[in-house]
Amino acid sequence: MKKYVKTELIYNIMCSIIGYFGHDDAAPTLVRGLKRMEYRGYDSVGVLTGSDNKFTLKKGVGRVSEVNNKLGLDLLHGSTGIGHTRWATHGKVTDKNAHPHLSNSGKIAIVHNGIIENFEELKSNLQNKGFDFQSETDTEIIANLIQLNFDETSDIKQSIIKTVAQLKGHYSFVVIFEDGTLAAARFHEPLIVGVEKDNYYLSSDVLGFIEKTDDAIYIDNEDFVIVNNAGIHIFDFDGAPVKYQITKVSKEFADVYKGDYAHFTLKEISEQPDTILRSENNDQIKQFVDNIKQAKNLYITGSGTSYNAAEIARYLMSKFAKIKIDTVISSEFPFSPNDIEQDSTLITISQSGESADVLEAVRIAKKSNTNILSIVNHLNSSLSQESSLAIGLNCGPEIGVAATKSFTSQLAILYKITDKLCNGCINPDWAKVSAVFSQILSSNSKIKEIARILKEISDIYVLGRGIHLSIAREAALKLKELSYIHAEAIAGGELKHGPLALMDSNVYVIIINPNDSTYSDTMNSANEIKARGAKIIGISDKESDIYDYWIKIPPIDEILYPIIEIVPIQLLAYYTALEKKTNPDYPRNLAKSVTVK
Ligand code: BG6
Repeated sequence: MKKYVKTELIYNIMCSIIGYFGHDDAAPTLVRGLKRMEYRGYDSVGVLTGSDNKFTLKKGVGRVSEVNNKLGLDLLHGSTGIGHTRWATHGKVTDKNAHPHLSNSGKIAIVHNGIIENFEELKSNLQNKGFDFQSETDTEIIANLIQLNFDETSDIKQSIIKTVAQLKGHYSFVVIFEDGTLAAARFHEPLIVGVEKDNYYLSSDVLGFIEKTDDAIYIDNEDFVIVNNAGIHIFDFDGAPVKYQITKVSKEFADVYKGDYAHFTLKEISEQPDTILRSENNDQIKQFVDNIKQAKNLYITGSGTSYNAAEIARYLMSKFAKIKIDTVISSEFPFSPNDIEQDSTLITISQSGESADVLEAVRIAKKSNTNILSIVNHLNSSLSQESSLAIGLNCGPEIGVAATKSFTSQLAILYKITDKLCNGCINPDWAKVSAVFSQILSSNSKIKEIARILKEISDIYVLGRGIHLSIAREAALKLKELSYIHAEAIAGGELKHGPLALMDSNVYVIIINPNDSTYSDTMNSANEIKARGAKIIGISDKESDIYDYWIKIPPIDEILYPIIEIVPIQLLAYYTALEKKTNPDYPRNLAKSVTVK
């Protein structure tokens, strides 16, 4: 018996899983589906197909197109199969750790997204039963556990029921058996089935099958699916049959093509004149407002860009609707000093609706009977299902990992909610905002010129005051995500309390300085910075000699500046990424939404 050695485990935090069972060749469909879901993880990719009780497996490190060109993933034979793209967190990015993984018998194979937290215990039990392991992944443990249970029951359904009863953690997986049968289970990680006559697509995301069908079954938590020649059957984890409903995927999610744009990120930045006008859904906004008016204690949370939108919401609601609302970074929720009071209301903001930190915050809040209101781009997401009310951004799929159009659509929704709360005291002119977006997008030569300069620098600061501080934070995040420059937001008034020490002739500072109530104070900060020789990039509708580089924004109502002033910075981060030859759509080490804490 081989001595058990504690190995470092590879978790599959944010991956895409896919399965196909039908009449066509599986491989081309699987590879195209993985390509569309690549924003979920792009460290390694693998495909396995089955035919005549045999498996063919190909996998490797790299992006889908690279590995496909090298190994011919889409040429594998068989009308059933599974596939995976991976985003590594623990352990090296190696061919061995790439998915799919086979069980010891070689008659069962699996792809998996998520974490198995009790992997060590399960692994040693399996090793004590004679199983051994090729990779360092928790996924291989599931494959062998299913084999153990299948060997004992000779029944696919029973083997899944027994296996999910032993797994702890958050996961979804697709497993293929020797006879071509597919099974898939969902425990807190997304799993959707696409249905097209008697072809079935099991996927992490509608993008996995959207080219083939817009008929989808959203698998509920703690349910599993079996697909074979007898069709599709859904059960809960105890084995009870589950009735399912086919829903139409909204057409907008079918639009996952770059069109003539070089990158999804540029396409999505360029869509904003249209998307800002699409976040209409006034009915839900009215209900949202009624819920906020009845709320005893109000909190708002999100991660990354969505948290920056939450900060803007706090500013707007406090200033214009005189409503006190506390912001909490979702990942800090478990460590927040004060427990959320009983019967509070929590507004959650999340583009994907799948960020684990946000879902964890909701789980904590629900322990004190908190009413959850969410603003999401995916109305079928886990977060929407956890909420009493969900508002959709209606801005279409966002593929670029760095959030752009979803941010301005989040702001549009938050402005509309605040405007209703203060009985129209803001009265935003969205047609004007859309026109201003088009103006900014059509005049980007100055931005490209500055990008050529920024490609040489490693640090940059973004300064803003009042509501513009949150935009400065979002600006810094975009520069980090897209151009890998260490970017730091500075509150204008805090400059002289420390950051001014960093200012010298090698430093660049972006100053967000619209001609509003913050203008003169921000100009004081600009003078302090200029006096130390630093270079200033001014984002403003008012020219000034103090700027070494002026990015002009068109004038607009004072309160709407935050929505427009972020667009030139999205473009600056994008063009700087191009200058630095990084991939704007798939920045290193990041993923579109991180589905684990
Ligand atoms: C990160 C994305 O993974 O998650 C960011 O790269 C995003 O762009 C953040 O802002 C939060 O995601 P979501 O989907 O919860 O808004």
